[in-house]
Amino acid sequence: MKKLVVLTGAGVSQESGLRTFRDMGGLWEEYDVMDVATPEAWARNPELVNRFYNDRRRQLYECEPNAGHRGLAELEKYFDVHIITQNVDDLHERAGSNKVLHLHGELKKVRSTANPNLVYELDGWELKLGDTCEKGSQLRPHIVWFGEAVPAMDEAIELVEQADIFVVVGTSLNVYPAAGLLHYTHDDVPVYVIDPERPPVYRDGVVFIEEKAGAGVDKLKKMLLQP
Ligand code: APR
Repeated sequence: MKKLVVLTGAGVSQESGLRTFRDMGGLWEEYDVMDVATPEAWARNPELVNRFYNDRRRQLYECEPNAGHRGLAELEKYFDVHIITQNVDDLHERAGSNKVLHLHGELKKVRSTANPNLVYELDGWELKLGDTCEKGSQLRPHIVWFGEAVPAMDEAIELVEQADIFVVVGTSLNVYPAAGLLHYTHDDVPVYVIDPERPPVYRDGVVFIEEKAGAGVDKLKKMLLQP
């Protein structure tokens, strides 16, 4: 089976009701990144940071995967599909995708502030200040904040280098190193970009599918499966 590697961003979850970051009404219109998504913010005001992630985690429990997530999961019938996502939601997994690599962490997980290798599934939506790991240290969101390393990046690069087909869905390609993954594809690999707005893609031969994720993934499937 051909290896189909997909890079997704917040846009793939927009039709599930989760906000994107940089669109109209996006999260970064309401919150300052520096106040809620950096290690310094956590040190300065853990209550605010923790509330930001608790609010997003609680909303996630009220959301379902959409046709975009489901369509990508269905492609596993025809391809060896690997999803590399910048999203911290679990909607790809809940839609049935079996190979999902989270570059920026996972909202439903928390980890020790003393040892980043101590990662736990959070029971319910609410993390409280005072919740501690097995070593007695405060638990924090298992999220890659701005300024922190992206541990899964090497694995992601390897996947993209092995891709026979590369697909980008719902990301503005604003944030590195994730946005740089596109440049690890071999020149002869077909690239498809699904997004109602064209993100900045500096590569020849890209097929833009200017649709929302649900309709776009359906169009992609028809293109990939046409004889
Ligand atoms: N279907 C497909 N794409 C959509 C849809 C939709 N229904 N709605 C919006 N989009 C597109 C927008 O046009 C935009 O290109 O999704 C993209 C969303 O871009 P961003 O809001 O910048 O989200 P993302 O690219 O995932 O941000 C990357 O930035 O803040 C950090 O860590 C955070 O992972 C995030 C990273």
